[in-house]
Amino acid sequence: MIQQQKLILKVLQGEKHLPPPIWLMRQAGRHLPEYLKLRSQAKNFLNFCYSPRLCVEATLQPIRRYNLDAAILFSDILVIPDALGQQVNFISGTGPVLNPILTVKEIDELNLKPSYEKLSPIYESIEQITEKLQNFDVNPALIGFAGAPWTVATYMVEGGSSKDYQKTRKWAYESPEEFSLLIDLLVDATSQHLIQQIKSGIEVVQIFDSWAGVLSPFQFDRWVIKPTKKIIDRIKLKFPELPIIGFPRGAGLLYKRFIDQTGVDAISIDSSISLPWAIENLQKNVVVQGNLDNLSLMVGGGLMEAEIVNILAAFSKGPFIFNLGHGVLPDTPISNVERLIKLVRSVKND
Ligand code: CP3
Repeated sequence: MIQQQKLILKVLQGEKHLPPPIWLMRQAGRHLPEYLKLRSQAKNFLNFCYSPRLCVEATLQPIRRYNLDAAILFSDILVIPDALGQQVNFISGTGPVLNPILTVKEIDELNLKPSYEKLSPIYESIEQITEKLQNFDVNPALIGFAGAPWTVATYMVEGGSSKDYQKTRKWAYESPEEFSLLIDLLVDATSQHLIQQIKSGIEVVQIFDSWAGVLSPFQFDRWVIKPTKKIIDRIKLKFPELPIIGFPRGAGLLYKRFIDQTGVDAISIDSSISLPWAIENLQKNVVVQGNLDNLSLMVGGGLMEAEIVNILAAFSKGPFIFNLGHGVLPDTPISNVERLIKLVRSVKND
Protein backbone atom coordinates (compact mmCIF):
# COMPACT_ATOMS: atom_id res chain seq x y z
CA MET A 1 0.00 0.00 0.00
CA ILE A 2 1.37 3.42 -0.91
CA GLN A 3 1.09 5.70 2.08
CA GLN A 4 0.00 9.26 1.47
CA GLN A 5 2.69 11.78 2.28
CA LYS A 6 2.37 12.99 5.84
CA LEU A 7 0.54 16.31 6.23
CA ILE A 8 3.26 18.04 8.23
CA LEU A 9 5.90 17.02 5.65
CA LYS A 10 3.82 18.50 2.84
CA VAL A 11 3.49 21.76 4.76
CA LEU A 12 7.22 21.77 5.51
CA GLN A 13 7.77 21.65 1.73
CA GLY A 14 5.84 24.91 1.49
CA GLU A 15 2.29 23.69 0.86
CA LYS A 16 -0.44 25.60 2.57
CA HIS A 17 -3.08 23.45 4.25
CA LEU A 18 -6.25 24.02 6.23
CA PRO A 19 -6.70 22.78 8.85
CA PRO A 20 -2.99 23.09 9.56
CA PRO A 21 -0.99 20.22 11.07
CA ILE A 22 -0.63 20.48 14.84
CA TRP A 23 1.86 19.20 17.42
CA LEU A 24 2.99 20.74 20.71
CA MET A 25 6.44 21.30 22.14
CA ARG A 26 6.74 19.20 25.32
CA GLN A 27 3.60 17.30 24.34
CA ALA A 28 5.04 14.32 26.19
CA GLY A 29 5.74 14.76 29.87
CA ARG A 30 4.31 15.85 33.12
CA HIS A 31 0.88 17.15 32.08
CA LEU A 32 0.01 13.54 31.14
CA PRO A 33 -0.98 11.21 34.02
CA GLU A 34 0.21 8.23 31.94
CA TYR A 35 3.66 9.86 31.70
CA LEU A 36 3.89 10.38 35.47
CA LYS A 37 3.07 6.71 35.95
CA LEU A 38 5.69 5.60 33.42
CA ARG A 39 8.25 8.06 34.79
CA SER A 40 8.04 6.42 38.21
CA GLN A 41 9.64 3.31 36.68
CA ALA A 42 13.05 4.99 36.44
CA LYS A 43 14.70 6.87 39.28
CA ASN A 44 16.98 8.90 37.14
CA PHE A 45 15.62 11.05 34.27
CA LEU A 46 18.58 10.40 31.94
CA ASN A 47 18.21 6.65 32.48
CA PHE A 48 14.59 7.08 31.46
CA CYS A 49 15.74 8.82 28.25
CA TYR A 50 18.28 6.04 27.57
CA SER A 51 15.78 3.22 28.02
CA PRO A 52 14.22 2.34 24.63
CA ARG A 53 11.22 0.75 26.32
CA LEU A 54 10.40 3.90 28.33
CA CYS A 55 11.43 6.38 25.63
CA VAL A 56 9.32 4.72 22.92
CA GLU A 57 6.30 4.63 25.20
CA ALA A 58 6.68 8.28 26.35
CA THR A 59 7.00 9.39 22.71
CA LEU A 60 3.82 7.57 21.71
CA GLN A 61 1.67 8.57 24.70
CA PRO A 62 0.63 12.00 23.38
CA ILE A 63 -0.07 10.52 19.93
CA ARG A 64 -2.39 7.90 21.39
CA ARG A 65 -4.21 10.45 23.48
CA TYR A 66 -4.41 13.35 21.03
CA ASN A 67 -3.78 12.01 17.50
CA LEU A 68 -1.29 14.78 16.74
CA ASP A 69 0.34 15.23 13.32
CA ALA A 70 3.83 14.66 14.69
CA ALA A 71 5.52 12.80 17.49
CA ILE A 72 8.65 14.32 18.99
CA LEU A 73 11.30 11.93 20.18
CA PHE A 74 11.26 11.76 23.97
CA SER A 75 14.75 12.86 25.00
CA ASP A 76 16.50 15.95 26.31
CA ILE A 77 18.96 18.56 25.07
CA LEU A 78 21.30 17.69 27.97
CA VAL A 79 22.12 14.20 26.67
CA ILE A 80 24.91 15.94 24.72
CA PRO A 81 26.84 17.26 27.74
CA ASP A 82 26.28 13.87 29.35
CA ALA A 83 27.67 12.06 26.29
CA LEU A 84 30.61 14.48 26.25
CA GLY A 85 31.52 13.31 29.74
CA GLN A 86 30.21 16.20 31.85
CA GLN A 87 28.33 15.10 34.94
CA VAL A 88 24.58 15.79 34.49
CA ASN A 89 21.91 15.10 37.11
CA PHE A 90 18.22 15.92 37.09
CA ILE A 91 17.00 16.70 40.57
CA SER A 92 13.27 16.76 41.07
CA GLY A 93 12.08 20.21 42.09
CA THR A 94 15.42 21.81 41.09
CA GLY A 95 15.99 20.77 37.48
CA PRO A 96 19.30 19.90 35.85
CA VAL A 97 22.54 20.14 37.86
CA LEU A 98 25.89 19.94 36.03
CA ASN A 99 29.52 20.21 37.14
CA PRO A 100 30.16 23.66 35.63
CA ILE A 101 32.75 24.08 32.87
CA LEU A 102 34.61 27.32 33.56
CA THR A 103 38.08 26.97 32.04
CA VAL A 104 39.75 25.87 28.81
CA LYS A 105 41.26 23.00 30.76
CA GLU A 106 37.76 21.79 31.62
CA ILE A 107 36.70 22.07 27.97
CA ASP A 108 39.78 20.03 27.02
CA GLU A 109 38.81 17.33 29.49
CA LEU A 110 35.51 16.70 27.68
CA ASN A 111 35.34 13.89 25.11
CA LEU A 112 36.10 15.07 21.58
CA LYS A 113 33.09 13.16 20.33
CA PRO A 114 29.85 12.28 22.13
CA SER A 115 29.98 8.72 23.40
CA TYR A 116 28.12 6.58 20.87
CA GLU A 117 27.65 3.96 23.52
CA LYS A 118 25.67 6.40 25.65
CA LEU A 119 23.55 7.71 22.80
CA SER A 120 22.91 4.46 20.91
CA PRO A 121 19.74 3.58 22.90
CA ILE A 122 18.26 6.83 21.56
CA TYR A 123 18.89 5.68 17.98
CA GLU A 124 17.43 2.31 18.77
CA SER A 125 14.32 4.01 20.20
CA ILE A 126 13.92 6.00 16.97
CA GLU A 127 13.90 2.76 14.94
CA GLN A 128 11.23 1.28 17.17
CA ILE A 129 9.09 4.43 17.19
CA THR A 130 9.25 4.68 13.39
CA GLU A 131 7.83 1.20 13.12
CA LYS A 132 5.09 1.77 15.68
CA LEU A 133 3.95 5.08 14.20
CA GLN A 134 2.75 3.26 11.08
CA ASN A 135 -0.18 1.93 13.10
CA PHE A 136 -1.75 5.32 13.76
CA ASP A 137 -4.59 6.75 11.64
CA VAL A 138 -3.27 10.28 11.30
CA ASN A 139 0.10 9.02 10.03
CA PRO A 140 2.24 11.20 12.29
CA ALA A 141 5.78 12.19 11.35
CA LEU A 142 8.66 11.74 13.78
CA ILE A 143 10.56 14.87 14.84
CA GLY A 144 14.07 14.57 16.24
CA PHE A 145 15.82 17.39 18.03
CA ALA A 146 18.83 18.80 19.78
CA GLY A 147 19.60 21.94 21.73
CA ALA A 148 21.51 24.64 19.84
CA PRO A 149 25.13 25.13 20.96
CA TRP A 150 24.42 28.45 22.70
CA THR A 151 21.58 27.10 24.87
CA VAL A 152 23.42 23.87 25.72
CA ALA A 153 26.54 25.89 26.56
CA THR A 154 24.55 27.99 29.07
CA TYR A 155 23.69 24.82 31.01
CA MET A 156 27.26 23.56 30.79
CA VAL A 157 28.79 26.81 32.05
CA GLU A 158 26.17 27.88 34.61
CA GLY A 159 25.92 24.32 35.94
CA GLY A 160 22.15 24.27 35.44
CA SER A 161 19.27 26.64 34.78
CA SER A 162 19.92 30.33 35.32
CA LYS A 163 18.03 33.62 35.41
CA ASP A 164 20.50 35.78 33.53
CA TYR A 165 23.27 33.55 32.10
CA GLN A 166 25.90 35.94 33.44
CA LYS A 167 28.80 33.49 33.61
CA THR A 168 28.24 32.32 30.06
CA ARG A 169 27.70 35.78 28.58
CA LYS A 170 30.69 37.12 30.49
CA TRP A 171 32.97 34.37 29.20
CA ALA A 172 31.78 34.99 25.64
CA TYR A 173 32.67 38.72 25.98
CA GLU A 174 35.93 38.29 27.92
CA SER A 175 37.41 35.58 25.80
CA PRO A 176 35.52 34.74 22.63
CA GLU A 177 38.40 32.53 21.45
CA GLU A 178 38.14 30.39 24.57
CA PHE A 179 34.36 30.29 24.53
CA SER A 180 34.33 29.34 20.85
CA LEU A 181 36.23 26.15 21.74
CA LEU A 182 33.15 25.04 23.65
CA ILE A 183 30.73 26.19 20.95
CA ASP A 184 32.74 24.46 18.20
CA LEU A 185 32.81 21.23 20.18
CA LEU A 186 29.03 21.49 20.52
CA VAL A 187 28.58 22.20 16.79
CA ASP A 188 30.41 18.93 16.03
CA ALA A 189 28.62 16.86 18.67
CA THR A 190 25.18 18.24 17.79
CA SER A 191 25.64 17.71 14.04
CA GLN A 192 26.72 14.11 14.63
CA HIS A 193 23.82 13.44 16.98
CA LEU A 194 21.26 14.88 14.55
CA ILE A 195 22.72 13.04 11.55
CA GLN A 196 22.59 9.80 13.51
CA GLN A 197 18.96 10.52 14.45
CA ILE A 198 18.13 11.02 10.75
CA LYS A 199 19.88 7.77 9.80
CA SER A 200 17.75 6.02 12.41
CA GLY A 201 14.46 7.30 10.99
CA ILE A 202 13.52 10.79 12.12
CA GLU A 203 11.83 12.86 9.40
CA VAL A 204 12.12 16.43 10.69
CA VAL A 205 14.73 18.15 12.89
CA GLN A 206 14.00 20.91 15.38
CA ILE A 207 16.87 22.88 16.92
CA PHE A 208 15.92 24.37 20.31
CA ASP A 209 17.72 27.60 21.18
CA SER A 210 15.63 28.39 24.24
CA TRP A 211 17.93 31.15 25.53
CA ALA A 212 18.79 32.83 22.21
CA GLY A 213 16.89 35.90 23.42
CA VAL A 214 19.43 36.97 26.07
CA LEU A 215 22.14 37.97 23.57
CA SER A 216 22.85 41.36 22.02
CA PRO A 217 22.48 41.43 18.21
CA PHE A 218 26.23 41.17 17.64
CA GLN A 219 26.59 38.26 20.06
CA PHE A 220 23.51 36.67 18.51
CA ASP A 221 25.28 36.53 15.14
CA ARG A 222 28.32 34.88 16.61
CA TRP A 223 26.81 32.43 19.09
CA VAL A 224 23.37 31.70 17.62
CA ILE A 225 23.37 32.27 13.86
CA LYS A 226 26.85 31.03 12.93
CA PRO A 227 26.85 27.77 14.94
CA THR A 228 23.28 26.99 13.84
CA LYS A 229 24.20 27.59 10.21
CA LYS A 230 27.17 25.23 10.51
CA ILE A 231 24.95 22.46 11.89
CA ILE A 232 22.35 23.01 9.16
CA ASP A 233 25.02 23.01 6.42
CA ARG A 234 26.38 19.71 7.69
CA ILE A 235 22.95 18.09 7.80
CA LYS A 236 21.97 19.44 4.38
CA LEU A 237 25.18 18.14 2.83
CA LYS A 238 24.06 14.61 3.65
CA PHE A 239 20.28 15.05 3.68
CA PRO A 240 19.39 18.05 1.49
CA GLU A 241 15.65 17.35 1.59
CA LEU A 242 15.28 16.85 5.33
CA PRO A 243 13.28 19.77 6.81
CA ILE A 244 14.84 21.71 9.69
CA ILE A 245 12.86 23.90 12.09
CA GLY A 246 14.76 26.58 14.03
CA PHE A 247 13.57 27.92 17.39
CA PRO A 248 15.65 30.90 18.56
CA ARG A 249 13.24 31.66 21.39
CA GLY A 250 13.00 35.30 22.41
CA ALA A 251 14.96 36.59 19.40
CA GLY A 252 12.38 39.30 18.60
CA LEU A 253 13.30 41.24 15.47
CA LEU A 254 16.39 39.04 15.07
CA TYR A 255 14.12 36.20 13.95
CA LYS A 256 14.32 37.82 10.51
CA ARG A 257 18.11 37.71 10.38
CA PHE A 258 18.02 34.16 11.72
CA ILE A 259 15.86 32.87 8.85
CA ASP A 260 17.81 34.85 6.24
CA GLN A 261 21.20 33.58 7.37
CA THR A 262 20.87 30.06 8.78
CA GLY A 263 19.09 28.17 5.97
CA VAL A 264 16.24 26.84 8.13
CA ASP A 265 13.16 25.55 6.31
CA ALA A 266 10.77 26.55 9.06
CA ILE A 267 10.73 28.85 12.06
CA SER A 268 9.08 28.22 15.41
CA ILE A 269 8.02 31.56 16.89
CA ASP A 270 7.47 32.34 20.54
CA SER A 271 4.34 34.08 21.81
CA SER A 272 5.88 37.54 21.92
CA ILE A 273 6.07 37.78 18.13
CA SER A 274 3.39 39.94 16.51
CA LEU A 275 1.34 38.06 13.95
CA PRO A 276 1.34 40.73 11.18
CA TRP A 277 5.11 41.17 11.60
CA ALA A 278 5.65 37.41 11.30
CA ILE A 279 3.50 37.18 8.17
CA GLU A 280 5.40 40.03 6.52
CA ASN A 281 8.92 39.13 7.62
CA LEU A 282 8.96 35.37 8.13
CA GLN A 283 6.10 33.51 6.46
CA LYS A 284 6.92 35.03 3.06
CA ASN A 285 10.22 33.14 3.14
CA VAL A 286 9.81 30.07 5.37
CA VAL A 287 7.15 27.89 6.96
CA VAL A 288 5.94 29.34 10.26
CA GLN A 289 5.20 27.30 13.39
CA GLY A 290 3.65 28.64 16.59
CA ASN A 291 2.74 30.54 18.63
CA LEU A 292 -0.03 30.13 21.23
CA ASP A 293 1.09 31.23 24.70
CA ASN A 294 1.59 28.09 26.84
CA LEU A 295 0.03 29.92 29.80
CA SER A 296 -3.07 30.70 27.79
CA LEU A 297 -3.34 26.96 27.10
CA MET A 298 -2.97 26.25 30.79
CA VAL A 299 -5.73 28.71 31.76
CA GLY A 300 -8.03 27.84 28.83
CA GLY A 301 -11.50 29.34 28.31
CA GLY A 302 -12.69 32.10 26.02
CA LEU A 303 -9.43 34.04 25.89
CA MET A 304 -7.53 30.95 24.79
CA GLU A 305 -10.10 30.30 22.10
CA ALA A 306 -9.87 33.89 20.85
CA GLU A 307 -6.08 33.59 20.63
CA ILE A 308 -6.30 30.33 18.71
CA VAL A 309 -8.78 31.83 16.24
CA ASN A 310 -6.52 34.87 15.76
CA ILE A 311 -3.44 32.76 15.09
CA LEU A 312 -5.30 30.54 12.65
CA ALA A 313 -6.74 33.51 10.78
CA ALA A 314 -3.38 35.27 10.60
CA PHE A 315 -1.28 32.41 9.24
CA SER A 316 -3.87 30.63 7.08
CA LYS A 317 -2.65 32.31 3.88
CA GLY A 318 0.68 30.53 3.85
CA PRO A 319 2.37 27.35 5.04
CA PHE A 320 1.76 27.01 8.76
CA ILE A 321 2.09 24.46 11.58
CA PHE A 322 0.08 25.05 14.74
CA ASN A 323 2.13 24.87 17.95
CA LEU A 324 2.78 26.78 21.17
CA GLY A 325 5.27 29.58 21.75
CA HIS A 326 7.09 27.35 24.28
CA GLY A 327 6.49 23.91 25.81
CA VAL A 328 3.30 22.60 27.47
CA LEU A 329 3.44 23.42 31.19
CA PRO A 330 3.05 20.59 33.71
CA ASP A 331 -0.21 21.93 35.22
CA THR A 332 -2.00 22.17 31.87
CA PRO A 333 -5.41 20.41 31.96
CA ILE A 334 -5.86 17.67 29.35
CA SER A 335 -9.28 19.12 28.48
CA ASN A 336 -7.67 22.41 27.35
CA VAL A 337 -5.33 20.56 25.00
CA GLU A 338 -8.29 18.61 23.62
CA ARG A 339 -10.24 21.83 23.08
CA LEU A 340 -7.26 23.39 21.28
CA ILE A 341 -6.88 20.46 18.90
CA LYS A 342 -10.60 20.35 18.19
CA LEU A 343 -10.69 24.05 17.37
CA VAL A 344 -7.64 23.87 15.10
CA ARG A 345 -9.01 20.86 13.24
CA SER A 346 -12.39 22.52 12.72
CA VAL A 347 -10.91 25.26 10.49
CA LYS A 348 -12.14 25.04 6.92
CA ASN A 349 -10.79 26.17 3.62
CA ASP A 350 -12.96 28.99 2.23
O1 CP3 B 1 7.58 16.23 24.45
C1 CP3 B 1 8.67 16.73 24.09
O2 CP3 B 1 8.76 17.90 23.66
C2 CP3 B 1 9.92 15.85 24.06
C3 CP3 B 1 10.75 15.88 25.19
C4 CP3 B 1 11.63 17.05 25.61
C5 CP3 B 1 12.10 17.13 26.96
N1 CP3 B 1 13.00 18.16 27.02
C6 CP3 B 1 11.70 16.22 28.05
C7 CP3 B 1 11.89 16.65 29.46
C8 CP3 B 1 12.22 18.10 24.90
C9 CP3 B 1 12.03 18.51 23.44
C10 CP3 B 1 13.09 18.78 25.81
C11 CP3 B 1 13.95 19.93 25.41
C12 CP3 B 1 14.61 20.72 26.45
N2 CP3 B 1 15.20 20.29 27.60
C13 CP3 B 1 14.83 22.14 26.36
C14 CP3 B 1 14.45 23.00 25.18
C15 CP3 B 1 13.01 23.33 25.14
C16 CP3 B 1 12.52 24.28 26.20
O3 CP3 B 1 11.57 23.88 26.91
O4 CP3 B 1 13.04 25.40 26.31
C17 CP3 B 1 15.52 22.53 27.53
C18 CP3 B 1 15.95 23.93 27.86
C19 CP3 B 1 15.76 21.35 28.30
C20 CP3 B 1 16.52 21.24 29.57
C21 CP3 B 1 15.71 20.72 30.67
N3 CP3 B 1 15.19 19.44 30.74
C22 CP3 B 1 15.34 21.39 31.87
C23 CP3 B 1 15.70 22.83 32.21
C24 CP3 B 1 14.60 20.48 32.62
C25 CP3 B 1 14.09 20.70 34.04
C26 CP3 B 1 12.92 21.61 34.03
C27 CP3 B 1 11.69 20.87 33.64
O5 CP3 B 1 11.02 21.29 32.68
O6 CP3 B 1 11.45 19.86 34.29
C28 CP3 B 1 14.46 19.27 31.89
C29 CP3 B 1 13.76 18.04 32.30
C30 CP3 B 1 12.79 17.44 31.35
N4 CP3 B 1 12.97 17.29 30.01
C31 CP3 B 1 11.53 16.86 31.71
C32 CP3 B 1 10.96 16.37 30.52
C33 CP3 B 1 9.65 15.65 30.37
C34 CP3 B 1 10.98 16.73 33.13
C35 CP3 B 1 11.74 15.72 33.88
C36 CP3 B 1 10.88 14.66 34.55
O7 CP3 B 1 9.85 14.23 34.00
O8 CP3 B 1 11.28 14.23 35.64
